[in-house]
Amino acid sequence: MPLCVLGAALLLSGLSAAAAQGTCSGVAPAPPRRGAWVSLTSAGGRGDGRTLNTAAFARAVARIERRRGARGGTLLYVPPGVWLTGPFNLTSHMTLFLARGAVIRATQDTSNWPLIHPLPSYGRGRELPGGRYMSFIQGNGLQDVFITGENGTIDGQGSVWWDMWKKRTLPFTRPHLLELMSSTDGTISNLVFQDSPFWNIHPVYCSNIVITNVTVLAPHDSPNTDGIDLDSSSNVCIEDSYISTGDDLISIKSGWDEYGISFGRPSSGITIRRITGSGPFAGFAIGSETSGGVENVQVEHLNLFNMGVGIHIKTNSGRGGFIRNITVSEVTLDGARYGVRISGDVGGHPDASYNPNVLPVVDSVTIKNVWGQNIRQAGLIRGIRNSVFSHICLSNVKFHGAASIGPWKCRAVSGGALDVQPSPCTELTSTSGTGFCSG
Ligand SMILES: *[C@@H]1O[C@H](CO)[C@@H](O)[C@H](O)[C@H]1NC(C)=O
Ligand SMILES: *[C@@H]1O[C@H](CO)[C@@H](O)[C@H](O)[C@H]1NC(C)=O
Ligand SMILES: *[C@@H]1O[C@H](CO)[C@@H](O)[C@H](O)[C@H]1NC(C)=O
Ligand SMILES: *[C@@H]1O[C@H](CO)[C@@H](O)[C@H](O)[C@H]1NC(C)=O
Repeated sequence: MPLCVLGAALLLSGLSAAAAQGTCSGVAPAPPRRGAWVSLTSAGGRGDGRTLNTAAFARAVARIERRRGARGGTLLYVPPGVWLTGPFNLTSHMTLFLARGAVIRATQDTSNWPLIHPLPSYGRGRELPGGRYMSFIQGNGLQDVFITGENGTIDGQGSVWWDMWKKRTLPFTRPHLLELMSSTDGTISNLVFQDSPFWNIHPVYCSNIVITNVTVLAPHDSPNTDGIDLDSSSNVCIEDSYISTGDDLISIKSGWDEYGISFGRPSSGITIRRITGSGPFAGFAIGSETSGGVENVQVEHLNLFNMGVGIHIKTNSGRGGFIRNITVSEVTLDGARYGVRISGDVGGHPDASYNPNVLPVVDSVTIKNVWGQNIRQAGLIRGIRNSVFSHICLSNVKFHGAASIGPWKCRAVSGGALDVQPSPCTELTSTSGTGFCSG
């Protein structure tokens, strides 16, 4: 049983690596010692890059499911090799473990890709009306799931989907690379995610989720390949990751207009730290779909280069919901069209039934200790006339341009500014009572 011995050794090295890493620990349980172990090969898989392994993944996961977590759950070992497959589901009490040199690669034959229901908080597919394609790796209603390895790769081969999007031949909303839905106690770590058809990693309606030490890659011209989108999820921690994609690197969301409002599930209790990356849109974003609300978010130590926008908080009339108690600090930004944007007029609507008079509340957003160079315009903060963005605090925010830098431009906003360069807009300097905004 040489493979089993190897598996046990990997499991142990995985454990010690996870124990040594700091600060998301406690948000989700530590990696358990799985009592059983299944290799994809023993489920009939072939890692030759040509054989389709959809049935092998389904068989392996079904075996794990039948054990129902007996003896601490089961590890599914994906050996080195290229494992071509269609989309597949995960189950509870499992670890999906990609060995060094293991690549799980999505088939580019999209003809039998299953459709699933739209998310109730979106009312329809995010891109197109109706259902949406299931994610390449999908986990619904799970507990105790680890998706990890030795820097193995999950490759979406998304170009076939990007082309359909560009040619407008896409029938339904594209699949994510990995979605965990209505799940709790999950960790995603030590993997490379690349070339997702659409958003890369999408925890939605989840709690107690850790994402650590991942690399997320997609070309800068690939459409809507957000790195990590947290959606209506609570108690989530993301750290120590590198993300370079074609859209926002990390965004926090919570549903879309009337569907998100009636579903009413906020994203809250979120910590993000030590993220490095690059891309044509935002480094850290909230929105624009925030109808269930976003609160209690702390982001620190972002190291961003060649961005569209450093930090972008976006919402719209008709969204409702709230964005409050957000702190972003210790950010370096080298190269961006805008350092900071906080916008009340971004993003479309799911259908004609949204109520444009339902306005979002944006309150208590602190951005501090930010340093940027090669920035074209410092910032744009545009609230909504009947819902002024309040307690917006900029503290020790310094942006420099290559030659001259565009100024801060603001409207419908109140707050404070301390030690900001170039000099902040009068909306932030003229407000009295700036005690909430200090170093
Ligand atoms: C995934 O699981 C769902 C049930 O949650 C099932 O309906 C669906 O057929 C499964 N899809 C695949 C591709 O196994
Ligand atoms: C992060 O991932 C790399 C590549 O897999 C690995 O060598 C390293 O040990 C991981 N770090 C931690 C803290 O797990
Ligand atoms: C993990 O893989 C990514 C992508 O190939 C690479 O950039 C990174 O350096 C690797 N990390 C380690 C520790 O091997
Ligand atoms: C604001 O959010 C932080 C977490 O980022 C939390 O510790 C704090 O209690 C929250 N404050 C309020 C007033 O809710």
